[in-house]
Amino acid sequence: MKNLRGLFLAFLIFSLCISDFPQAQDQQGFINLDCGLQAKESPYTEPVTKLTFTSDSDFIKTGKSGKIQNVPGIDYIKPYTVLRYFPDGVRNCYTLSVKQGTNYLIVAMFTYGNYDNLNIHPKFDLYLGPNIWTTVDLQRKVNGARAEIIHIPRSTSLQICLVKTGTTTPVISALEIRPLRNGTYIPQSGSLKNLFRVYLTNSKDIIRYPEDVHDRLWTPFFIPEWKLLRASFLVNISDNEYDIPENVLVTAATPANVSSPLTITWNVETPDDLVYAYLYVTEIQSLKDNETREFNITAGPNVSYGPISPEESELYNLFNRSPVKCEGVTCHLKLIRTPSSTLPPLLNGIEVFTSVEFPQSESNTNDVVAIKNIETNYGLSRVSWQGDPCVPQQLLWDGLTCEYTNMSTPPRILSLDLSSSEITGIIVPEIQNLTQLQKLDLSNNNLTGGVPEFLAKMKSLLVINLSGNNLSGSVPQALLDKNLIIVSNYLCMILGPSQSQPSIETKKRRFTYAEVLAMTNNTERVLGKGGFGMVYHGYINGTEEVAVKILSPSSAQGYKEFKTEVDLLLRVYHTNLVILVGYCDEKDHLALIYQYMANGDLKNHLSGNTIMSWVERLNIVVDAAQGLEYLHIGCKPLIIHRDVKSSNILLDDQLQAKLADFGLSRSFPVGGETHVSTVVAGTPGYLDPEYYQTNRLSEKSDVYSFGVVLLEMITNKPVINHTREKPHIAEWVKFMLTRGDISNIMDPKLQGVYDSGSAWKALELAMTCVNPSSLERPNMSHVVHELKDCLISENKRTGGGKDTTRSLDINLSFGTDTKPEAR
Ligand SMILES: *[C@@H]1O[C@H](CO)[C@@H](O)[C@H](O)[C@H]1NC(C)=O
Ligand SMILES: *[C@@H]1O[C@H](CO)[C@@H](O)[C@H](O)[C@H]1NC(C)=O
Ligand SMILES: *[C@@H]1O[C@H](CO)[C@@H](O)[C@H](O)[C@H]1NC(C)=O
Ligand SMILES: *[C@@H]1O[C@H](CO)[C@@H](O)[C@H](O)[C@H]1NC(C)=O
Ligand SMILES: *[C@@H]1O[C@H](CO)[C@@H](O)[C@H](O)[C@H]1NC(C)=O
Ligand SMILES: *[C@@H]1O[C@H](CO)[C@@H](O)[C@H](O)[C@H]1NC(C)=O
Ligand SMILES: *[C@@H]1O[C@H](CO)[C@@H](O)[C@H](O)[C@H]1NC(C)=O
Ligand SMILES: *[C@@H]1O[C@H](CO)[C@@H](O)[C@H](O)[C@H]1NC(C)=O
Ligand SMILES: *[C@@H]1O[C@H](CO)[C@@H](O)[C@H](O)[C@H]1NC(C)=O
Ligand SMILES: *[C@@H]1O[C@H](CO)[C@@H](O)[C@H](O)[C@H]1NC(C)=O
Ligand SMILES: *[C@@H]1O[C@H](CO)[C@@H](O)[C@H](O)[C@H]1NC(C)=O
Ligand SMILES: *[C@@H]1O[C@H](CO)[C@@H](O)[C@H](O)[C@H]1NC(C)=O
Repeated sequence: MKNLRGLFLAFLIFSLCISDFPQAQDQQGFINLDCGLQAKESPYTEPVTKLTFTSDSDFIKTGKSGKIQNVPGIDYIKPYTVLRYFPDGVRNCYTLSVKQGTNYLIVAMFTYGNYDNLNIHPKFDLYLGPNIWTTVDLQRKVNGARAEIIHIPRSTSLQICLVKTGTTTPVISALEIRPLRNGTYIPQSGSLKNLFRVYLTNSKDIIRYPEDVHDRLWTPFFIPEWKLLRASFLVNISDNEYDIPENVLVTAATPANVSSPLTITWNVETPDDLVYAYLYVTEIQSLKDNETREFNITAGPNVSYGPISPEESELYNLFNRSPVKCEGVTCHLKLIRTPSSTLPPLLNGIEVFTSVEFPQSESNTNDVVAIKNIETNYGLSRVSWQGDPCVPQQLLWDGLTCEYTNMSTPPRILSLDLSSSEITGIIVPEIQNLTQLQKLDLSNNNLTGGVPEFLAKMKSLLVINLSGNNLSGSVPQALLDKNLIIVSNYLCMILGPSQSQPSIETKKRRFTYAEVLAMTNNTERVLGKGGFGMVYHGYINGTEEVAVKILSPSSAQGYKEFKTEVDLLLRVYHTNLVILVGYCDEKDHLALIYQYMANGDLKNHLSGNTIMSWVERLNIVVDAAQGLEYLHIGCKPLIIHRDVKSSNILLDDQLQAKLADFGLSRSFPVGGETHVSTVVAGTPGYLDPEYYQTNRLSEKSDVYSFGVVLLEMITNKPVINHTREKPHIAEWVKFMLTRGDISNIMDPKLQGVYDSGSAWKALELAMTCVNPSSLERPNMSHVVHELKDCLISENKRTGGGKDTTRSLDINLSFGTDTKPEAR
């Protein structure tokens, strides 16, 4: 081998080396797919090539089988007479198992053959993983197209995808994959797309397997300017690194005019195409003593190599290590006799390729494995879930978002949305292998089992939505300790989107009694007296305001119950529930530390000097109703508040309402939907009248109490007034209604400033809530819905003031519209 001056292209010679490399005469590593073949007809041995073809049905999930019509004058071999066509989806992919790092010859065959009787020849793109390989244009190549590439897969899985680019339906007839010898056909970069592969002969025979052990397709080629040479002796070239078949080498072309060069000319698609040429030369004539054959090779004006003098039994395998450009789109390869040579140049065979770059990196392999395991586990069959999950970006799988750094960095999966996908079973552990996942939405499925610990270990995870499932068990503490936004109807998980004080969540924990005394400055400022004890003002870390409820030792609570309930309450998060920040249980000292609510409670507000407008009142009861709805249907097991009353509806500095003191009575189910109570619960006037007969409280008992609150809000009258016609507020309103005296029901402080439809609707709703029969009462979802309607009517009247829409923005209902967004 010699490098010439100005040589831009280095040709290499592989002389025949006698080695005992075994010839791969079997079809080892071959994959021969007859696309569209019925599984029951598979496998079969194709009589011409002796190759064993199998059905493609195990390698692709989509597409349908078709059969081509007879094309006059063309005799397709069997694999090309049936096809698979893809009426659905944009991208349809074959997935093949390959050896990573092995160079493969990949061939795809396409015949249309009017299989659909529509006579519309398709045109579409062919992809290898996330990168385009070629466009298949059967409008131009009406009798069929063949795409061939030599490619080293980057992973153990090779995706070959047909991508619809217009209106026509992609089709494929066969896929053929053959491993090549390690170290052969290695371009400087990219992969090798075959332009042609010819052997120089006047015969008509195509050479492929089994003569070519790699099943390369050698077509005969000859032009009149040439003279045919046939081997004048036995050519034994079996042991050459490129495994060139003997029949390719036993003939050669030489210029008919011995003074002329041997010229081969071809076209490429664009002037920028980079060309690799592989020339195969061996002497097949017995030269006399006075004869010499010596020639140079040129490719365009800038590239030349030589001289070479081919010898018998020696294969000259000449190719360029660096790619060359042609002159425009036309390439000229010349073999030029040197002046001293007595014989013209000779050429036995030639392969020409252009290089294709596959710059887009495939998605992170671990992410791909994980998402496919998730897909399998949940039995998902989404038409877009084929090929690479993240790339190309326009074919991103439904429900995913990915991170794209640059083309050479594998994309990562950032979010997975499997909401409303009818998936069942547990939250599968494969999810944890999506190590960059930030958002996980599994809402509105039928998932069962517990919330797994591993979610807490996923470092990137910020938002989890588990609402609308049938999950059970207890929430791992590790998950609660993370500052996650969790939307869940399971054990009242965090409803974070509009959480005003997310920082306070992270501090929920156990405090010592000394800390409690420190935070309240030795119980300096009393906020009030609540159920089971006094409430004091305090600070955590000197900044966050809290309300500290120190339980009196005589409290009805047993120590065990306190612990269990605290455990539960620490897990309850909702914008409309007063959050428990921490607790203390040190010997006899029990304390609960809550979020501080600057504006007191609803009861005080109604009776105070400031007049609350109808809209303000509606906003407050919508908030409170949502909090209660959350306890009822957002929590499993459900929590019955047991002490809903206007003094338990607290208002923050924005007048947003939060329910307090929930779950302080026994809140754990004994079984079924109702709850046996041994402790007299509730506050007189608010207590469900059915309780006196059944001694049971259900969520409908909360609805009753909430109805009483609504009546207070509407009338601004005491719940019990023994000097009025009817002492209980519900009885009194009913009495007034039967007298048709509506105007006297409404709080006179409102001075008639409200939408009457809205007021009437609220009043009707309140009355259904306080129905003596729990069966007749609505559930809290219905109450929330109706109250929102009242707000809408009132907003229409006022033109919808900005501050009045506050509660409607905070959409925390548990319908299908629960979608978290990190703010
Ligand atoms: C191919 O050869 C290279 C070095 O020549 C080696 O590193 C690589 O592992 C080989 N690949 C296979 C698939 O044998
Ligand atoms: C070709 O050469 C190899 C190695 O020298 C030998 O084993 C083989 O028999 C030869 N083939 C023929 C057809 O002569
Ligand atoms: C042979 O080629 C030479 C050089 O290209 C040319 O001068 C000569 O006319 C050719 N002879 C014939 C018979 O074509
Ligand atoms: C080579 O020698 C042979 C006789 O052995 C003769 O016929 C032929 O013309 C010679 N060729 C050349 C190019 O000298
Ligand atoms: C052929 O190669 C020889 C030796 O390298 C060189 O001297 C000569 O210029 C080359 N001729 C052509 C036409 O490239
Ligand atoms: C040949 O080389 C010249 C000068 O370096 C350059 O301008 C021209 O583009 C090259 N032609 C080809 C086909 O590479
Ligand atoms: C792609 O991003 C990686 C990671 O940020 C960086 O190391 C690499 O240099 C980038 N490559 C290119 C081509 O920008
Ligand atoms: C996660 O991936 C690791 C390797 O990256 C594998 O060992 C493990 O089995 C995978 N776990 C699951 C649950 O798929
Ligand atoms: C959810 O799963 C449970 C238990 O497998 C089943 O009884 C119920 O019908 C399922 N619900 C839906 C909506 O699929
Ligand atoms: C703590 O209370 C004492 C009186 O009991 C008072 O003098 C002091 O200012 C209070 N400290 C704070 C930080 O409020
Ligand atoms: C509050 O104080 C505790 C220790 O007393 C500390 O761990 C925590 O990070 C502090 N939080 C803030 C927000 O300063
Ligand atoms: C109780 O009802 C009587 C009779 O309607 C009324 O005069 C009185 O003001 C009410 N008490 C309160 C506290 O509203």
